[in-house]
This record gives sequence, C-alpha cells and structure tokens, in this order.
Amino acid sequence: MKKLIVCALLAAVLAAVPAFAKKAYVNGIDPDYPPFAYMDEKTGKPAGFDVDSMNWIAKTMGFEVVHKPMAWDGIIPALLAKQIDMVDSGMSITPERAKVVQFSNPYWTVSRVFVVPADSKLTPADILSKKIQLGVQRGTSEANDIKKEQEEKKYPFELRFYESSPLAVEDLLNGRIQAALMDELPANNAIENGRAVKKAGTHGEPDNFGVAMRKDDKELQKLVNEGYKKLMADPYWKELQQKYLSK
Ligand code: ARG
Repeated sequence: MKKLIVCALLAAVLAAVPAFAKKAYVNGIDPDYPPFAYMDEKTGKPAGFDVDSMNWIAKTMGFEVVHKPMAWDGIIPALLAKQIDMVDSGMSITPERAKVVQFSNPYWTVSRVFVVPADSKLTPADILSKKIQLGVQRGTSEANDIKKEQEEKKYPFELRFYESSPLAVEDLLNGRIQAALMDELPANNAIENGRAVKKAGTHGEPDNFGVAMRKDDKELQKLVNEGYKKLMADPYWKELQQKYLSK
C-alpha cells in the first residue's frame, strides 16, 4: 500500500516537471478545408484526414497535439512567430515555402482542378482564354502559380481571392465568378455535399502535401516523419482514406 502511494506521488511529481511531461505541439489548421481539416459541425471540434492523422501520430510517438484554427493566409507567419509549431492541413510543398520552413516527407498527392457551375460549358481552355472571373483561395500554391502564369502568358481572366475554397464555391453558385481553381479533394467534397458544381478538368502539375515546421525544429521533424512512416504501415491509414478521401 505504502509502495503504491509512493509510486503515485512520484508519477504526479514527474508529470509536473516539464522534462518528464509529454511535449505539446500546436498544429495550425485551416478550419474550412474539408476533407483535410475542418470544424466538425456536430462536435464543434477540429476533424479531417490531416487532423486524425496527426492525432494518431502524436499518440504513437508520445507527444500531445492541439489543433488551432486560423486564417490560411497568415499560417506561415504564425509558424515563424511560434504561435504554432506545425501546419498539417493540406499544405503543398513548394520551393517558395521551403525557403522559410522545412517540410516533412510528402504524405499525399492531389491534382489541381478547375471547378465550374454544374450547367457551365466552360472548358479549361476557355477559362484560360476568356475574360472571366476566376476564384482562388488566398495564400495557396495554386493562387501564386496561376498569378505568375497569368503574368507570363497574359491570360485575360480576372483573379478573385477568397478566404477559403468553400467560399469560392458559394460565389460560383451565385454567379459572381465563373470558375475556381483548387485542389481536387476539396472540389470533390463540394460536389458530394450537393453543391451544384462540377470539375471542368485539371490544371498544371499535381501538388504534394507535407507538414510544415520551423527549420530549426529537427526534433519535431523526426517525430513527424517517423510517425507518418508508422501510420502508413498501419491499417488505420487505409481506414482514414476510406473515411475522408475515397468517395
Ligand atoms: N494546396 C494548396 C496550398 O498548399 C491549397 C491548400 C489550402 N489548404 C488549406 N488548408 N487551406 O496552398
């Protein structure tokens, strides 16, 4: 009995000492990027493929993780300012970002697609050659790339910037824009959720998603890379794909 009390006391003391407590990391997420990260309507909690992946990795690798919803546009500045420690939220690995942050190994690949209203006749070639309004999410790899491409090739469309891709879809439906460019899975998600839109075709090269971290955070990078390796070898990885990505 005495032994038990001593053990419990010791455990309590150790847990209170930072060096023995589990390390806690903050993952910054875009709360409006289904199926990768979003706020679950029923529970009000962060959910999605990336959120569940990182929860599993944290449990397996022995750290704590909290998911902090924030504006996508400011997510890398927030990471550099240490308001968050990582971004596991459908972030594409790009050379521009890799100058300021380090990435994990890629864990997923997605195509970029043009989304148009379900009754639209616009083809990708039309979108690039007509004076239409094209919506993109602010601060995304696709927004930066299409802007550059437009400058080089003098495309006549007008770019409109949105806080999230679901907001671009809303403006497609009410006719404020005629097309939007986004990753394929959020596009699928909008279609599955009954939005009257369709994919008009892909554009450019596919994106690789990775977890962004501060460059000096080698310890976290190791945890994340090892964690994803373990996750991908576990049946839970397939389960997650079926739950979030397969439809
Ligand atoms: N793949 C694009 C990017 O990395 C779009 C990602 C948007 N992701 C998000 N969670 N909002 O910029």
